[in-house]
Amino acid sequence: MSETPKKLHIKTYGCQMNVYDSERMAEAMGAKGYELTDDPAQADMVLLNTCHIREKAAEKVYSDLGRLKPFKDAKPDLKIGVAGCVAQAEGEEIRRRMPLVDLVVGSQNYHRLPDMVQAVERGEKPVDTEFPLEDKFDHLPSRPQAARPTAFLTVQEGCDKFCAFCVVPYTRGAEISRPGGKVLTEAQKLVDKGVREITLLGQNVNGYHGEGPDGDWGLARLVRELAKIDGLERIRYTTSHPNDMDDALIAAHAEERKLMPYLHLPVQSGSDRILKAMNRKHTAEDYLRLIEKIRAARPDMMLSGDFIVGFPGETDQDFADTMELIRAVNYGAAFSFKYSPRPGTPAADRKDVVPAEVADARLQELQALVTLQQRSAQEGMVGREVGVLFEKPGRLEGQWVGKSDYLQAVHVRGEGLRPGILARVRITGTAPNSLAGELVADF
Ligand code: SAH
Ligand code: SF4
Ligand code: F3S
Repeated sequence: MSETPKKLHIKTYGCQMNVYDSERMAEAMGAKGYELTDDPAQADMVLLNTCHIREKAAEKVYSDLGRLKPFKDAKPDLKIGVAGCVAQAEGEEIRRRMPLVDLVVGSQNYHRLPDMVQAVERGEKPVDTEFPLEDKFDHLPSRPQAARPTAFLTVQEGCDKFCAFCVVPYTRGAEISRPGGKVLTEAQKLVDKGVREITLLGQNVNGYHGEGPDGDWGLARLVRELAKIDGLERIRYTTSHPNDMDDALIAAHAEERKLMPYLHLPVQSGSDRILKAMNRKHTAEDYLRLIEKIRAARPDMMLSGDFIVGFPGETDQDFADTMELIRAVNYGAAFSFKYSPRPGTPAADRKDVVPAEVADARLQELQALVTLQQRSAQEGMVGREVGVLFEKPGRLEGQWVGKSDYLQAVHVRGEGLRPGILARVRITGTAPNSLAGELVADF
């Protein structure tokens, strides 16, 4: 009689890099006989892959751990693990606060997860948050099947920029780029399994500097090499820092058909005073110039950004400068956050905090402007023809959903559509969070 496979439930918080890491951990555990389940009640092991970026994100992990208590009471050999950036930042402290946690694995040690699970089976409670000398990617199993036509691929990790508000340099460590050859091999394997769009991931992905067979490769070179892979139709990358947006990468946007015209380029604030205090190392004017250059190379480029309101010392004028910058750029989408002081970061020590109600009001005002811009970007699509890569059936009979070149969800009816089909679509209408379209030609 064969043993029934054990079940693993993974909950992922935070950024796309965590999504990628969760997949890799699932594969590593798959090799040890664990199958994924969506239902924590069915699980033999629950793994929380956590985010430390804002206080809310980190506290959510503790409340979710509290909610696992009845599961553990009902099934005492249920294993509970904490991975990701809270694990990296808080380590042993997590087990002090939540004794039901069996293991804590930092963001660079996932290749050790199966051994740690064995240690738990022996009655140990391992915590591993050292930054290891070896590369975790070399020690994780190669990626099996891809069920979807799109995939994430981490090419760069960590950050050396030390923005005054941000925990990432502490939770992900120093900037490291994976060698170009290894990225190409992983991409080729994904394409062989049916992937047609790859999003290259990194906390500072455009600061990528990987070792290539003929010297150092920047992101532009990596993109151009990836574009040579037959069957790979679309390349995206995220997240970028304005200071690493070099001419070679801008030129790749002008010339490389497979590189999509959508760029997430966070600026955080439109006030030079605040940008300086944030240690962003550029001015609002630098950013606007850069956007002009990018749009000169690729006129249809759609931009998205990240903003923080209520950074310590932010005045009404600083906030007005941010609104002005948003008006000048005209974003297709933007993500905005109320400043959250993070332990260990320089800004957390500042006493000139912005009152919560002021920050709340600014956030609402900013989001209202961004919503208007987003809506007008959606409406501006009506009548245009775009590529759509189909991903899954829609809710209505015969309807399919895919993503446009600009990363918008598009609903289309069509015979013979299936995941992985890339087709030309004319946009016919808009809904709050998606577009409707019709096929222009056979695919
Ligand atoms: N590497 C990316 C961002 C990583 S974090 C970059 O450089 O842009 C994602 C976003 O979270 C940031 O762009 C920022 O807008 C927001 N963020 C980071 N730390 C924050 C904090 N302490 N409080 C509020 N928002 C924060
Ligand atoms: Fe954080 Fe700044 Fe690094 Fe982005 S560039 S990860 S915001 S420190
Ligand atoms: Fe969060 Fe870590 Fe990503 S702090 S945003 S999960 S790098």
